[in-house]
Amino acid sequence: MYAVEATAVSRRFGRRVAVDNLTLQISPGEIVGFLGLNGAGKTTTLRMLAGQLHPDEGTVRVFEYDTQARGFAAHGLVGVLPEDAAIRVTATAWENLLRAAESRYVRPEEALRRGRELFALLGLDDRADEPVRGFSKGMKRRLGIAMSVINYPLLLVLDEPTSGLDVESVAVIRDVVRELNRRGVTILMTTHAIEEANGLCDRVAILDRGRLAACDTPARLKASVPHDEPSLLVTFLPDAPNVADEIRRLPAVTAVSGDGGRYRVDYTDLPGVLEALAAYSRRTSRTIAALQMSAPSLEEVFFHVTGSDLRSRPAASVRWTDPAMIDNEGGA
Ligand SMILES: Nc1ncnc2c1ncn2[C@@H]1O[C@H](COP(=O)(O)OP(=O)(O)O)[C@@H](O)[C@H]1O
Ligand SMILES: [Mg+2]
Repeated sequence: MYAVEATAVSRRFGRRVAVDNLTLQISPGEIVGFLGLNGAGKTTTLRMLAGQLHPDEGTVRVFEYDTQARGFAAHGLVGVLPEDAAIRVTATAWENLLRAAESRYVRPEEALRRGRELFALLGLDDRADEPVRGFSKGMKRRLGIAMSVINYPLLLVLDEPTSGLDVESVAVIRDVVRELNRRGVTILMTTHAIEEANGLCDRVAILDRGRLAACDTPARLKASVPHDEPSLLVTFLPDAPNVADEIRRLPAVTAVSGDGGRYRVDYTDLPGVLEALAAYSRRTSRTIAALQMSAPSLEEVFFHVTGSDLRSRPAASVRWTDPAMIDNEGGA
């Protein structure tokens, strides 16, 4: 069973194709990050995967439920943090949370328990009774996340959860994403921070002008980019001034650079250079303390796949609201 199964999904706005024939399967427990330039179709894709927007063509199933079937939202499977969450600034954080709980039919005593836990997790507990008007952007975003998971959704969809926030809020939000995921919640998120996608996500989906250009683990995406100069990064312990020269003379090695114990080794063939380095280690009693293939970064993958640089400016153009959801007890 998939958490999300999108089959040939397309969506147009007027004549503009926002999402073009997207097929994607997401397993329960995955964190999948969506990367793309502004206007690439990330928000439209997430809205369709969350069941908030119907595709023009294709189908989306969430835990086997058809998102277009009547009453899908009532299953309470999905929690959503929109790009622009609807939070009442005159109300307190706690009042906002209780409203979200009520609209999803979470029983009051359950909302109390869950709300306290979420506010503690999100570092909001000492501000719970203050009007949201005085909150920073990061605190409002954290409140939005609490509201989106108040009813224990199995799938959590976060549109730009960390964009434009202070460092502390970003760290808190990433920790909460990990914690919810650890408890079994499947997570879809968009991000502009490529390092976030790299470190947080099991798989990264790259959208390019409405098309799914790639979707794989960060490691496999990086390995898929052809790169002209294969090299290894190797660290020997103990290091010595003559190590670079000695490695340079090994079979299969074409060039060596770097110092401070960490060397970049260009080579002709991989098995050959590995054998040579192992023999060198044995002969000199220097330990290979670290050995790494130098791989392209996720930025390079993005460039390779889309032909453009991922800019760091988020767009917040589209507004969408959560569906009303019922209590989903015994869920995540
Ligand atoms: N409600 C809407 N009405 C008209 N056009 C829209 C709407 N939502 C999105 N679009 C258009 O669809 C394309 C994809 O937008 P979006 O999914 O918001 O991209 P992203 O989130 O990657 O920036 C853009 O060209 C955008 O202008
Ligand atoms: Mg967007």
